[in-house]
Amino acid sequence: MFDSGIGGLTVARAVSRLLPHEQLIYFGDTAHLPYGDKSTAAIQAYSVKICDLLLKQQCKVILIACNSASAAAYELVREYVGSKARVLNVIDPIVAHVGKAYAGRAVGLIGTKQTVNSNVYKKKLDDLDAGVQLHALATPLLAPMIEEGFFNNSVSDNIIQNYLTNPALDSIEALVLACTHYPMIKEQITQFYEGKVEVLDASDAVATHAQAYLEEHNLAARPAKKPPTHQFYVSDFTRSFEESTRIFFGQEVHLEHYPLWE
Ligand code: DGL
Repeated sequence: MFDSGIGGLTVARAVSRLLPHEQLIYFGDTAHLPYGDKSTAAIQAYSVKICDLLLKQQCKVILIACNSASAAAYELVREYVGSKARVLNVIDPIVAHVGKAYAGRAVGLIGTKQTVNSNVYKKKLDDLDAGVQLHALATPLLAPMIEEGFFNNSVSDNIIQNYLTNPALDSIEALVLACTHYPMIKEQITQFYEGKVEVLDASDAVATHAQAYLEEHNLAARPAKKPPTHQFYVSDFTRSFEESTRIFFGQEVHLEHYPLWE
């Protein structure tokens, strides 16, 4: 799986919990983060190069564990990878859930500028013809805020409140957290809405989808005696990235520097 940085580790965590026998090879493109402010063309170019690395590592499935990259590059990556691996993204599972659970209702969405401006959630929801009215708002301060460790405190409360009181999100019945960093502030957002709006964290939906997909395609790993050894690569290494893995993965993991761009 890959992400612009270490935020995608929230997805890796959900997948590793649900699928403990699968070996994860994670690539965080820390040299280029954030993807949320990059052009579609740039994200596509980065994604294709990362896929070369993941294919070299003989990944059977490539999961784009980043909303911005899923929005900008999923179709292209699928075409590029062809029959060499299956490609999954973090958008389709939650879209399928919203289409079923919120047909005919108003649903909000927060994410990076790239994700929101791509309109990809709206297009995919419209394709389902379920009458979901999507109210999307770009919230670009949230990812760097979380990366700096600002969550569950008064600073983050203020910023979250500022965004969520935007009229664009009036009268929604559920809110999609369309960014891999946001599971870290799910609790705060739930509190803001006092339980009146369901807060949808895509990472669990993505892990459940990955499990069903692997089973359906006969790709699931067989249980082994020893748990698999995951690998975590980053395109630019700093100690602070490594320390932040604790925030997103629930425990600190060792990051290997893989200078893909040199
Ligand atoms: N991982 C990105 C996403 O899910 C957020 C961080 C970034 O902008 O790179 O959209």
